[in-house]
Amino acid sequence: MQFDPQDTYIKPTEHYQTYDDGRELDLLYFIHNDPDIENMRGNPLRILDAIDDFARTREYLMNIGRDKGRIIGDLIREIRPRVMVELGGYVGYSTILLAHLHRQCGGSHYYTLEQSPEFAAVLLSLVDLAGLSSFVTVLVGEASRTLQRLQANGTLSSIDLLFLDHNPEAHLPDLKLCESLNLVNDSNVVIANNGMAIQHREYWGGGRARRDDGYTKYIRGSVEWRREAFRFEQWQKEWFRGNNSDVLPTLSGKPTRQIDSFGYTSQPTETYPKTDITYGYDGNPNLVYDTSFVRCFDPTGLEVSLLAKISYKVWC
Ligand SMILES: C[S@@+](CC[C@H](N)C(=O)[O-])C[C@H]1O[C@@H](n2cnc3c(N)ncnc32)[C@H](O)[C@@H]1O
Repeated sequence: MQFDPQDTYIKPTEHYQTYDDGRELDLLYFIHNDPDIENMRGNPLRILDAIDDFARTREYLMNIGRDKGRIIGDLIREIRPRVMVELGGYVGYSTILLAHLHRQCGGSHYYTLEQSPEFAAVLLSLVDLAGLSSFVTVLVGEASRTLQRLQANGTLSSIDLLFLDHNPEAHLPDLKLCESLNLVNDSNVVIANNGMAIQHREYWGGGRARRDDGYTKYIRGSVEWRREAFRFEQWQKEWFRGNNSDVLPTLSGKPTRQIDSFGYTSQPTETYPKTDITYGYDGNPNLVYDTSFVRCFDPTGLEVSLLAKISYKVWC
């Protein structure tokens, strides 16, 4: 598919803030000041048009955009998930687009998790305007805490389609959390908006590179490799439990190669820093992922990719 230039969002540049500078509230005013506001009520597609219009003419918004939305939408039509969970709802573009389709395809509920209370307020307001509030639950707070709470109180027992679109550095720990809590298993599908690394320098004008902290390697690695890493993590946790230190010494015979290949540290030296992963969930190294990169366009017209994991299998 070719990108239609008419769909292009304003391109963000390296030197300017690209979110959380008031533009999210500006979007809400933009929509509510639209002379067509009455026709937007209960009309998800009309609201998506208005959000696109804002991002093309006023300020860039970090939405998935039409092309990625189309690809995930096709998957929803194909697999017809019952429960969908999105990590990183932002102002609601993907939530409105995907939940609308999910409902049309017979889905039972859509949970969208957003860390920022301000973004979540905009998200909630637009979900309500779209007439989706009985189908969509907006949950404010850090995704890992919300997931643990939903699992513990029995709200969530399985996620048929999980869409990771929050902080790329949290993709791996949060996927492992879902594995450990058995929220994803052999019949579930995960999609990550996480395959941008190749072109990311170009995207940000040659400056920042984006890290995914091992997510891609984890789900594309072999079971043997993940099991070895798992054993290392267990050892690492034991070590921190038994020693009052913030660094881990290199001990001869320890599988240090796995640390590097997982991207836990960029220092292949004498010590390893204590990381959040040290305290994180272990995941399930016995799951086999059938993964694929799907080429698509970012709403600024940049060719990127989505990383889809199409079902798990348990390796014995
Ligand atoms: C790229 S935006 C999501 C865009 C949205 N999915 C869309 O296409 O319309 C990422 C969002 O994830 C949120 N976020 C980042 N880290 C998070 C975390 N740990 N838990 C929940 N939300 C998080 C950010 O506040 C931001 O709103």
